[in-house]
Amino acid sequence: MEMLGKTIVEGKTKVVHQHARNFDQVILVSKDRITAGDGARAHEISGKAKVANDTTCTIFEFLNSVGIPSHFVARSGDMMVAKKVHMIPIECVARRVAYGSYLRRFKTPFPVTEAYRFPTPCLEFFYKDDANHDPQVTKEQLLSNPLLLDEAKQLRLTPKYVEQMELWTRAVFETLERAWAVQGCTLVDMKIEFGIDMQGRLILADVIDNDAWRVWPQGDRRLMKDKQFYRELKTVTDADLTEVLKKYEWVADAVRGFKARRPTACIAVGVDAPNLKGAQTKLQHYSALTPISLTALQTISEPTVVVTSAALFASVASITACPVLIADANTDSAVLREQILRILARDDHVLWCSLHAEQIAATVAAQN
Ligand SMILES: Nc1ncnc2c1ncn2[C@@H]1O[C@H](COP(=O)(O)OP(=O)(O)OP(=O)(O)O)[C@@H](O)[C@H]1O
Ligand SMILES: [Mg+2]
Repeated sequence: MEMLGKTIVEGKTKVVHQHARNFDQVILVSKDRITAGDGARAHEISGKAKVANDTTCTIFEFLNSVGIPSHFVARSGDMMVAKKVHMIPIECVARRVAYGSYLRRFKTPFPVTEAYRFPTPCLEFFYKDDANHDPQVTKEQLLSNPLLLDEAKQLRLTPKYVEQMELWTRAVFETLERAWAVQGCTLVDMKIEFGIDMQGRLILADVIDNDAWRVWPQGDRRLMKDKQFYRELKTVTDADLTEVLKKYEWVADAVRGFKARRPTACIAVGVDAPNLKGAQTKLQHYSALTPISLTALQTISEPTVVVTSAALFASVASITACPVLIADANTDSAVLREQILRILARDDHVLWCSLHAEQIAATVAAQN
C-alpha cells in the first residue's frame, strides 16, 4: 500500500490517489459499490471492486495491444496504476443499437424504433454535470466554443482534441464490438472518457468496466450481462445483488478471451524519400505493428506493415498479393492509425489514397 499517496478525487465508484513515488501517475481504486440514476440508487456489493478492476485492466491491456493509447500503466493487485491526466468532463458515447436514453430523447414527432441498428455507430457527447443530469452537447457546440479545462494553464478543448475524441471513440467502439462479437455477444452501446496527458496528448482515461456498456449475449436483451440489469430492478434484494455480481464475474471472465487479431492484410505505406523517416516514426508510435524492411518482406510469413519510399512502393506492391493501404507522410497520424485499425478489425481490402498517394497508385497501375 506504500504506493498510495493522497486522495486526489473520490467519486461514486472509485477513489483516485496520487502515486506516492511517481508524480506523473495515479492509482485508481474501485469501490464495492454500484449506483444508478446519478446515485439515486446505490448498494454495496462485496467483491465488485475486485471484478471491476480486473475487467477494466483487461480491457485496457487489450486496447493497448491493438495500439489504442490510454492512461493505463499497470495492474497492481486490485488497483490500477495510470498516467495522471487532465480529465475532459465529456462522456463520449457510441451506439450500434438504439436503446435507453436515446429512445427517450428522440420521441416526437418521429420516435426512433427500439433496437434500430445504426449502420455506422452513432456518436454522442454529454457534459459531465451531475446537478444537471449530464446534458447532451453537440460536436458543433464543442468546436465553436472550446471548453476551458484549466484556467491557470489556459488549457482548452481545442477542435483538434474534439476531432480526435470522435475518431478514437469510433475506433474503441469498433474494436470492442468486434472482440465481443467473437464471444457471441452484441455490444449495444458504450461510454468512454478521455484526458490530456502531461505532454498535451489526448488519451483514453477513466475506466471501461461492466458499468460502461450494454452487452447482450446472442444479441438477446433478456440475457443482458451489464449494469442495466441492476437499473431495471424494481426492488433490490440480497439475491438480486448476488445475481448482479455473477453477471459482473461472467463479463470479467469473457473479456479475458479478447485477443488482438493478427492482421490478414499487408499494409504498405508509400512515402516520398525525404519524409520516410517521419512516416516511420509516426507508424512506430501509432501502430501496434512492427515496420520491416523491403527485403525482409519477401520472407515474411505474417502480415506486416511496410514503410517504403514512393519509388520503391511499386516493388512492394508487386512482391505482395496483399491489399495495400497507401498514405503519405503528410497524412494525419490519427487518421492513418484509424485506417490501420479498420483493416485489423475487418478483413476489408482497403485502398486508401491521399493526394500524393494517388500518383503512387497510378504508377502501380501502369506497371501491372
Ligand atoms: N488518469 C486519471 N487521472 C485523474 N483523474 C482520473 C483519471 N481517471 C479517472 N479519473 C477521475 O476519477 C474520478 C472518480 O471516478 P468515479 O467514476 O468514481 O466518479 P463518479 O462519482 O462516477 O463521477 P463521474 O460522473 O465523474 O464518473 C472521476 O472524476 C474521473 O474523472
Ligand atoms: Mg464515473
